[in-house]
Amino acid sequence: MSIAEQVDVSGDMIEYLKEQEKKSMLRFLTCGSVDDGKSTLIGRLLYDTKLIFEDQLATLERDSLKHGTDGENIDFALLVDGLEAEREQGITIDVAYRFFATAKRKFIVADTPGHEQYTRNMATGASTADLAVVLVDSRQGILKQTRRHSYIASLLGIRNIVLAVNKIDLMDYSQEVFDKIVADYMEFAKDLGFTSIQPIPMSARFGDNVTMQSSRMPWYKGPTLLSHLETVPVENEYLDKAFRFPVQYVVRPNLDFRGFAGQVASGRIKAGDKLTVAKSGQQSVVKEIVTHDGNIDEAIEGQAVTIVLADQIDISRGDMLVDPENRPHVADQFQAHIIWFDAQPMIPGRSYILRTEVDSVSATVTALKHQVNINTFAHEAAKHLNMNEVGECNISTQSPIAFDPYRTNRVTGNFILIDRFTNATVGAGMIDHPLRRASNVHWQAMEVNKEARAALKNQKPAVLWFTGFSGSGKSTIANNLEKLLTAQGKHTFMLDGDNIRHGLNRDLGFTAEDRVENIRRVAEVAKLMTDAGLIVIVSFISPFRSERRMARELFPEHEFIEVFVDTPLEECIKRDPKGLYKKASAGEIANFTGISSPYEPPEAPEVHLRTLGHSAEELAIQIETFLNKR
Ligand code: ADX
Repeated sequence: MSIAEQVDVSGDMIEYLKEQEKKSMLRFLTCGSVDDGKSTLIGRLLYDTKLIFEDQLATLERDSLKHGTDGENIDFALLVDGLEAEREQGITIDVAYRFFATAKRKFIVADTPGHEQYTRNMATGASTADLAVVLVDSRQGILKQTRRHSYIASLLGIRNIVLAVNKIDLMDYSQEVFDKIVADYMEFAKDLGFTSIQPIPMSARFGDNVTMQSSRMPWYKGPTLLSHLETVPVENEYLDKAFRFPVQYVVRPNLDFRGFAGQVASGRIKAGDKLTVAKSGQQSVVKEIVTHDGNIDEAIEGQAVTIVLADQIDISRGDMLVDPENRPHVADQFQAHIIWFDAQPMIPGRSYILRTEVDSVSATVTALKHQVNINTFAHEAAKHLNMNEVGECNISTQSPIAFDPYRTNRVTGNFILIDRFTNATVGAGMIDHPLRRASNVHWQAMEVNKEARAALKNQKPAVLWFTGFSGSGKSTIANNLEKLLTAQGKHTFMLDGDNIRHGLNRDLGFTAEDRVENIRRVAEVAKLMTDAGLIVIVSFISPFRSERRMARELFPEHEFIEVFVDTPLEECIKRDPKGLYKKASAGEIANFTGISSPYEPPEAPEVHLRTLGHSAEELAIQIETFLNKR
């Protein structure tokens, strides 16, 4: 039976859709190993329920316009809203959402294909899911993937699990096989905080226990998958929570109207209620709640509305309107669980963009406290997180953000991490709690400041950041430059990789993690020195763009001058002043830049020194000329 037929039977399209609106909604996703039969299962479910496909909805819409009474638009919003909201989070990855409905309930199933990237798809698809169908192949039992996905589901706040013991036909519909798998899973999952785990023996291929009770497993007395999905209670968990309203944009059609548009993330709000702006703490009262269909008295979780306040207060996109008596945290340091998606590992100290529902800020993982072993849940020491790994981290953001712990609010407690260069989503995070230790540390105002110190020295502070291969000539050129500048009466200081590694950074080696920390420390030291009014010459290989950029961002514009000492690698190998290239090529030194560790050349250095055929003196003059023109 096609949709059109169904609608004709029910008589009136509008009535039909109204009915749909009243039904409760269940969001779920499927997970498991690649061959467990996810697609077959979804296909079977959709086929057997004569579901409404998304593309069929388009037909429905066209039909409804044709048949439309009073020229009224049908409110598809309710059907499609959920989908849009997820897309708007800016997470555009391979998660397809399928909508279908039965007489009892509406469903949105996140179809998360992909193999290697599955964790990523799952994490983003699951952020609003109520239930996860964990597929297990009867022949294989509980696998590493089953555990990984179940753990991630639990981490993401999913509380209901269906353990779909699939392909039972290949095991002769054996109760013994089923019972064993169920027992294994229950043992594994006992600490994951699920409120319901429903095991179902099934064959998606033949339709046993998917939508119809199987006659081949008389020993199984439980529900079919569909009847369980139709009846499993899912509490409307956000309705009774504190009011949270991330402002998406300010609506200002004319001078007399100023409203704040967004979607209620949790709780409810009525005209006359008091509100607070999370970060600034300013207060006001709700004057009106405006929607497309006119004003309403009350808005609840999930509704898209425009809020008009009684007072003119300064609010913009990225602010969050909240319940004054139950405010979110506002902090720039917090602890979170991170699921890492990217092929490049997550390295503490490196800077990423952190995006929440409301904020988008620069952030660094200041400490990776431990990694979680997905099989044993043991906390294991780790220096970085690889793809699909989960870790507990301390995070520091460049400016404070407003958030709730993820366990109390999945919308305002989650974030994604974005790579600054590729713009790819590289991780997802769940905030645990703010870190208090930084909250009582304040900037001390100093009366003698950077300007005063620089004026006394009669110079503009600057950082000349030399980057290039070992043996490229950085130190020699830097040394010449420092001589030139001191001769002119300038106050300088040189920070040199080899030297600093004898003292301050004696504890660091040459792994990627250690190099990130090496540069972070030296950048902070350089910053203190510019505060002292000095011209600082920094000479480190600093092979990664990411950290050079992090260093740059510590300084005001024009104060950071990147000097690319561009000597071809072959030339450095030929010179080999310390004999290190020879050793590295012989395998005696690990992670040697240019040989066994990468060097990422600057894309737009302020000074680009092509050194071949020029003396160190000439090159130093080139930099000095740039400085004087500044
Ligand atoms: S950085 O990559 O972390 O910026 P840094 O400039 O501090 O490196 O130190 C580089 C110096 O350490 C080189 O000039 C070389 O003398 C020495 N060194 C020892 N081992 C290595 C290595 N594996 N890679 C690069 N340099 C090394």
